[in-house]
Amino acid sequence: MEKRILITGGAGFIGSHVIRNFIKKYPNYLIVNFDKLTYAGNLENLVDIEAADNYDFIKGDITDINLVKKVFEKYKFDSVIHLAAESHVDRSILDPLEFVQTNIIGTANLLNAAKESWANDFEGKLFYHVSTDEVFGSLSKTGFFTEKTSYDPRSPYSASKAGSDHLVRAYFHTYSMPTIISNCSNNYGPNQFPEKLIPLAINNIVNKKQIPIYGKGDNVRDWLYVLDHANAIEMLFHKGEAGETYNIGGDNEWTNLDLIRNLCQILDDKLNREKGESEKLITFVKDREGHDLRYAIDFSKINKQFDWKPSLDFKTGLENTVDWYLTNKKWLENVVSGDYLNFYKKQYDKR
Ligand code: NAD
Ligand code: DAU
Repeated sequence: MEKRILITGGAGFIGSHVIRNFIKKYPNYLIVNFDKLTYAGNLENLVDIEAADNYDFIKGDITDINLVKKVFEKYKFDSVIHLAAESHVDRSILDPLEFVQTNIIGTANLLNAAKESWANDFEGKLFYHVSTDEVFGSLSKTGFFTEKTSYDPRSPYSASKAGSDHLVRAYFHTYSMPTIISNCSNNYGPNQFPEKLIPLAINNIVNKKQIPIYGKGDNVRDWLYVLDHANAIEMLFHKGEAGETYNIGGDNEWTNLDLIRNLCQILDDKLNREKGESEKLITFVKDREGHDLRYAIDFSKINKQFDWKPSLDFKTGLENTVDWYLTNKKWLENVVSGDYLNFYKKQYDKR
C-alpha cells in the first residue's frame, strides 16, 4: 500500500464523505476508520464502501490510550486524518465535560501515539486535524475570519476544538511533527445527524412539527456542501504545507430565518404542499446561551494557492440534501428513535 491512513470519526457526517472520497480515488491507500460509534456515528453511512479491499473499521474510543497505541502498532500508519469529535454546540452546553474528554484528551492521545509510533522520524508522515471556524469566536455584521484571526472560542464545543488545535500546533513547533489544520464553516448535505439546523428542520417539516428558531433567527452562518469540504481535505492532505493552517468556507452567508424560509419553499414544492404551508411551522424559541452572531470565512489562501473554491451553488446543494433525506427515509427513522427523542425533549421542551 502506498499510504496507510488512520481516519478517526469516519462513521460521522463529514468523516463518511472523506472516507468514501479516499477509498474510491486511492485504491493504493489503506484506510482504517477508527470510530467510537457514538449517537452520531453510523455505519449505515458507509455501506457502499465497507467491503472495499483497502478499508478496515475499528470500533474504538480515542480517549482509550492503550487501544490507540495498539492500533498504531498494528497498522504502522504514515498519516492521520483526525475528525472524531463531539460536534454539536447545544450538547456542549448541556454536557461540556464529554467535549473536553473527546476533543482535547482524545486529540492529545492521538498526537502522542503518532509521535511515539513515528519515533521522531517524521519523513513522509502527516497529522491532519479537521477543525472549525468557531474557534475564531463571533463576528459582528462585517469582517471575515482569516488564518491570522486570533482565537476567541465562546462555547464549550469551540473552546475544546481550540484546545485541540493548540495541541496540534504544539506538536509541530515542539517536536517538528508535520501537521496541517483546516478550519471550516458550517457543513450541510447527506448523512448529517438531525440535531443540526438543516436536517432537523427537514425532518420537522416532513413530519409537520414546529421548526425551532433560536432568538430572532438573525444569526448568520456560512454554509458549505459537505462534498466540497471533503474534496478540500483531500486536496490539502496531498498539497498542504506542514505547520500551516487553512480556512475553508462557502462564501455563502445566510441568516437562519432566510435559510429556513428557503428550505420551507423547497419542501412545499417537493411534498406538493400549498405555497407557504411549511413556513407556518417556524417557531421562535429561547435563544442559545452565548449564541455567536455571525461566522464568515475568508478562504482566499486556498483559493490563491490551490485554486480551490466551492463547486456547488446553495440552491442545488439544498435541493440535493432535501432529496437525499426524502429518499433515505429509513436512515432518518433509525436515527430519530430512542436517544434522539431524549435529547430533543431535553433541548427543546422548555424553550
Ligand atoms: P459528527 O458528530 O457527525 O461525527 C463525529 C464522529 O466522531 C462520529 O462518527 C462519532 O462516533 C465519532 N466520535 C465521537 N467521539 C469519539 C471518540 N471519543 N472516539 C472515536 N470516535 C468518536 O461530526 P461532523 O459534523 O462529521 O464533524 C467532524 C469533524 O469536523 C469534527 O471534528 C468537527 O469539529 C469538524 N467540523 C464540523 C463542521 C460541521 O459543520 N459539521 C464544520 C467544521 C468542522
Ligand atoms: O461553523 C462550523 C460549526 O457549524 C461546526 O464546527 C459544528 O460542528 C456544527 O455543529 C456547526 O455549528 P452551529 O452551531 O453553527 O450549527 P447548528 O446547525 O447547531 O446551528 C446553526 C445555526 O442555527 C446556529 O445559529 C443555531 C441555529 N439553530 C440551531 C438549531 C439546532 C436554531 O436556530 N435552531 C435549532 O434548533
